[in-house]
Amino acid sequence: MRRRTAPCWWMYVLIALLATAVQLGQAAGQTSSANSLTDAQVRDKATNLLRQMTLDEKIAQLSQLPGFPAPEFKENVSKTMEEVLKQVGAGSVLWVPDPKEINRLQHVAVEQSRLHIPVLFGLDVIHGYHTIFPAPIAMASSWDTKMVEDAQAVAAREARAAGIQWTFAPMVDIARDARWGRMVEGAGEDPYLGAAIARAQVLGFQGKQPGAPDRVLACAKHFAGYGAAEGGRDYDSSYVPEEQMWNVYLPPFKAALDAGAGSFMSAYMDLNDVPASGNAWLMHDVLRESWKFQGFVVSDAFAVRSLLTHGYARDYQEAVHKAFSAGLNMDMASGTYLKYLPMEVQQGRITTQQIDDAVRPILETKIRFGLFEHPYKSGKTIHSIAVIGPLGDADTDLLTMWGAMTKPGPAISILKGIQEKVGSAVRVAYAHGPNLYRDIPSPFENLPISEMKEQPSQTPEEAHRAIEDAVALARRSDLAVLVLGEIDLMSAEYASRASLKLSNHQQELLAAVSATGKPVVLVLVNGRPLDVSWAAEHVPAILEAWYPGSQGGNGIADVLFGDANPSGHLPVTWPRSTGQEPRYYSHNLTQLPETSPDFKSRYWDVLSTPLYPFGHGLSYTTFAFDNLKVTPTARVGATLDVSVNVTNTGKRAGDAVVQLYIHQRAGSASRPVRELKGFERVALEPGANRTLHFTLGKDELQFWSPSLKKWVVEPEQFDVWVGGDSSAALHAEFRLTE
Ligand code: NOJ
Repeated sequence: MRRRTAPCWWMYVLIALLATAVQLGQAAGQTSSANSLTDAQVRDKATNLLRQMTLDEKIAQLSQLPGFPAPEFKENVSKTMEEVLKQVGAGSVLWVPDPKEINRLQHVAVEQSRLHIPVLFGLDVIHGYHTIFPAPIAMASSWDTKMVEDAQAVAAREARAAGIQWTFAPMVDIARDARWGRMVEGAGEDPYLGAAIARAQVLGFQGKQPGAPDRVLACAKHFAGYGAAEGGRDYDSSYVPEEQMWNVYLPPFKAALDAGAGSFMSAYMDLNDVPASGNAWLMHDVLRESWKFQGFVVSDAFAVRSLLTHGYARDYQEAVHKAFSAGLNMDMASGTYLKYLPMEVQQGRITTQQIDDAVRPILETKIRFGLFEHPYKSGKTIHSIAVIGPLGDADTDLLTMWGAMTKPGPAISILKGIQEKVGSAVRVAYAHGPNLYRDIPSPFENLPISEMKEQPSQTPEEAHRAIEDAVALARRSDLAVLVLGEIDLMSAEYASRASLKLSNHQQELLAAVSATGKPVVLVLVNGRPLDVSWAAEHVPAILEAWYPGSQGGNGIADVLFGDANPSGHLPVTWPRSTGQEPRYYSHNLTQLPETSPDFKSRYWDVLSTPLYPFGHGLSYTTFAFDNLKVTPTARVGATLDVSVNVTNTGKRAGDAVVQLYIHQRAGSASRPVRELKGFERVALEPGANRTLHFTLGKDELQFWSPSLKKWVVEPEQFDVWVGGDSSAALHAEFRLTE
């Protein structure tokens, strides 16, 4: 289901990712975190809310307000949606398609209602939100449950990014009559396949544990027997013997429930002469008594009201009584619960305890599904992206000087990678910005085998006009991806430079685009660390791509959009400025070392520490290191064991690069403050941990002694650090003896 992934995406080094880092597009690299509350905590929180709620506030939780003009609702409720939200709140709102409007209404509910209870925004996200996957019957035809799960996870992420937290899917109705129009919405005729696809869809929508901010609440529908409508005529009565209910029509619902489906939707039709939306056998006996369902049931749209049409109730009040008593928690869009339930309580036909019992699963679902923590749309919905910078559309330059020499054809540019990634849903436009060219040209440009070209030189006025165009584009866009650095002729042979500053007005371009206030991502294409101290302070995310090769644009798009989790780590120390060079981590400790609190720097105008240490690299997850153990003493010539635990403490799977550094405290020569002597890349799921073992033997401990003129392993005291870069703090020590 995914677009091609560029090989070796892990080589990209995410060097800065601040808390404000932007998430790109509707398919943002969102991370997913399950709500960590225990069942008891969820129950307590709901109990606490119930204690504070008035009857009207409780009944509002049992109601879904239509986000569109609905005469059926107007007939019962004369207030506007906003008034209802402010005065009593609401369980849910149906069909508000505009993410801005969803956010606005959620703010009203959360900030202006008395108890600040968030609303569930529900929509039919059946086979995709922005990215539309094949119709459900087509997905089922794949018989590929993993793919179905993945597709619904994408749908969930996109929907959640727009503020939708509840999808009316999966539709798990078994359909055996091809005349029925809704066969397309389900998984076909078979209960076994239907159950497997139902399970996969629920897992895709909700994840394994509810509560992640990139998942949505699933709703198994239409409970039950809707697919058996007589003659395939939609809404017509179903007559299904009990054994067929249990053996054919119910198993996919049970599978959805077992996969964790938090809500069910009652069907429109009569099942064996009892309307499904007032059917106590379905909602009480089967769902709650037999299956122990803990979630809530919503009616299909206006179905409570329709109990009158069915001839199952004399008036709307009786319809409400029968639906509610049968176990229907929430009325979809008809406003009948809002109007008639208070009367039912006041007239003593329904007790407040029954009301509490019906409200509780709705509140608990909102708590369990993380609505209180993440009520708003999960990310900025991006409609337009500005790709800006003289390397944004570069193709040959992504190959490096040597890569370009064999004329392998152009690489995928970053502009193209982003365009392919977002498709037509997002407008991607490009502004080149000022040209890149060397002050002293490279002789390689004129070689007959070379395709490398500098960009034409420009006057300062031309460069400034190019900056203005780029700024104008950024202003018209939702975010800017700046691609800056060095064309291929600026790095490699005959390409030394005296200054590491961003050349040719690139710094001005970066500052001007950042000044628009639009979120900015900086992608660096270059062959050496550059002076990005300003960017480190002002730009939310910086991705070091180096020269990423033929598939560069695709790989970078995968990382930017969260389809790949970066795990590259710097193989060089990154200085704060040119004047710090040469700057490498394994220097010696000498007079007044900068490690002492009194002597922080060798310079008076800049710290001695680098901007990013050797080995540095960020990920969309985080790692913790602990339990460092080392053989405390060993004889010279023996091998020592070092072990350490690494845990993925974040919310996404990722690769840690665990690095081991040592320091020999004294000896026949001054030894570097730290030296890398072991590393291992380890893939970890969220929450997972591993114990890694390293060995330190002759190869790691020996050095060429200038005073003894030979290779030596010396009987001395050593320090060991293990962590994610050369500044790792986790420390142990050992001693080598004669
Ligand atoms: C009516 C449909 O029967 C149901 O499947 C859908 O979820 C609701 N309307 C809400 O859109």
